[in-house]
Amino acid sequence: MIEKINKILATAKKEISGATEKTISELQHKYLGRKSELNSILHSIGGLDVKERKKIGSLANKVKKELENLFEEEKKELKKSAKTEVIDITAPGRLYEVGHIHPVNQVLQEILEVFKSLGYEIAEGPEVEDDWHNFEALNIPKDHPARDMQDTFYLKDGHVLRTHTSPMQIRYMERHKPPVKIVSPGKVYRNEDEDASHSWSFHQVEGLVIDKNITLADLKGTLEVFAKSIFGPRVKTRFRPSFFPYTEPSAELDASCPHCVGKGCRSCGYSGWVELLGSGMVHPKVLKTMGVDPNEYSGFAFGLGPERIAMIKYEIPDIRYFWHPDERFLEQF
Ligand code: FA5
Repeated sequence: MIEKINKILATAKKEISGATEKTISELQHKYLGRKSELNSILHSIGGLDVKERKKIGSLANKVKKELENLFEEEKKELKKSAKTEVIDITAPGRLYEVGHIHPVNQVLQEILEVFKSLGYEIAEGPEVEDDWHNFEALNIPKDHPARDMQDTFYLKDGHVLRTHTSPMQIRYMERHKPPVKIVSPGKVYRNEDEDASHSWSFHQVEGLVIDKNITLADLKGTLEVFAKSIFGPRVKTRFRPSFFPYTEPSAELDASCPHCVGKGCRSCGYSGWVELLGSGMVHPKVLKTMGVDPNEYSGFAFGLGPERIAMIKYEIPDIRYFWHPDERFLEQF
């Protein structure tokens, strides 16, 4: 029994010297707790003869006292050293994975920077629109077939989720007089099925310029600067006749494929060209609705989709990659 008690003391001493602030209480419980070996020895000595009881009892009590002191001292030491812990300021810091801007927002920012550098102001507007701003004021009356061009999400109260950013042309002109030169970025919604090039929710950037003597050449020149800024100086642009009820004439702008420079490749469907945006000269009827005299002023407008521009720029084959989160895809940007 004496040997056993001495062994308890020796191993306890060893473990106490290697203890930390976290483990010291567990050790104290192990060596001095109710279920500790030492405690059961102390309980069992009642059954020994008087001589043995005296000898073992006094040793066990001495060891118990010694361990109690050792634990108290060690706890004090550990507390002291925690307070005086030295921080190694030369140790390398932990590297945290930082989030980054979504590729569509990166391209959107790039687009806005181009127009800001050309002196455009940025104007934002509501995503929930009324029929007047989204359709009527843009020369799209209720029975006009152009309403079929954009399948619309209608709200119960007759409002709509804007189907394009063009209502911002009207909203801005309600509060401003020409000359104006704005771009208006934001989300738009269309009640259409998703496929590789169509989303039911996507971004647009609207452009509107109204001043004296604005011509189609100004529109073409501006859009050419835009295309070269985004895709590089080698790209060429071309107008294709189109139709929008709020512009006359209307045109789609194509750019020569930035990847094959017009030769034809997988990215451009081997046509050498990619579609960039819709545009035109502001319709005189719309100018009048805006309170602008078409005999004095003229203007141009355009609307482009950052998702489509990002797809062209980064050769992304499917628009759904953007909004169906897969970190492996997003981490590439
Ligand atoms: C319009 O929305 C016109 N409001 C643009 C405009 C503005 C014309 C001012 C004249 C004057 P369009 O429906 O073609 O036009 O859309 C413009 C751009 O939005 C397209 O070139 C394309 O880049 C993008 N876009 C259109 N539909 C989708 C869709 N479902 N998913 C993703 N991008 C789309």
